[in-house]
Amino acid sequence: MNNFSELITNRRSMRKFTDEKISQEDVVSLMKAALMSPASKRSNEWQFIVVDDKETLQKLSHCKAHGAAFLADAALAIVVTADPLASDVWIEDASVVSILIQLQAEDLGLGSCWVQVRERFHASGVPADEYVHEVLDIPLQLQTLSIIAVGHKGMERKPFDEEHLQWEKIHINKYGGK
Ligand SMILES: Cc1cc2nc3c(=O)[nH]c(=O)nc-3n(C[C@H](O)[C@H](O)[C@H](O)COP(=O)(O)O)c2cc1C
Repeated sequence: MNNFSELITNRRSMRKFTDEKISQEDVVSLMKAALMSPASKRSNEWQFIVVDDKETLQKLSHCKAHGAAFLADAALAIVVTADPLASDVWIEDASVVSILIQLQAEDLGLGSCWVQVRERFHASGVPADEYVHEVLDIPLQLQTLSIIAVGHKGMERKPFDEEHLQWEKIHINKYGGK
């Protein structure tokens, strides 16, 4: 990738992965991106569970009825959790981390997709967060925001088409200003 504009144009959600493993070096780069993320008041209230075990990935792919199945074929799942008692803006902090991991993945030529866990439900009706906690032994004080699926891209995706930019959502100086 030559520059940041190209990176953000090319990053598209990837839900199809090859069987190729992710190198140790790339895993370290992904986790460095997570640990370098900005956080309000530097509270760094997050904790990450890096999953490469196939059986566990399979279990995580069932964390909710829709939109998580591809986790089973990902080389890696990065489970983004945070402690709400350690920061009132844990959702923002964990979201910043989630997108930085995705951008780092793109920079490494890897595909990724955000799997929303917070406010989502397992097919049984149990909160997806509770299901994930059970699977991974996550302590009670942590909440799971997202799981970032990462792997080698299994298909081509077109870069973002700038024709679709919603410029009408940009307001100059006041709402409705042009
Ligand atoms: C907060 C958030 C939650 C998302 N949750 C899911 C999800 O659970 N499953 C999924 O397949 N994609 C999920 N996505 C990916 C979006 O569907 C995707 O980013 C959007 O459709 C735009 O497509 P693109 O990423 O390819 O540009 C999520 C994205 C965000 C930012």
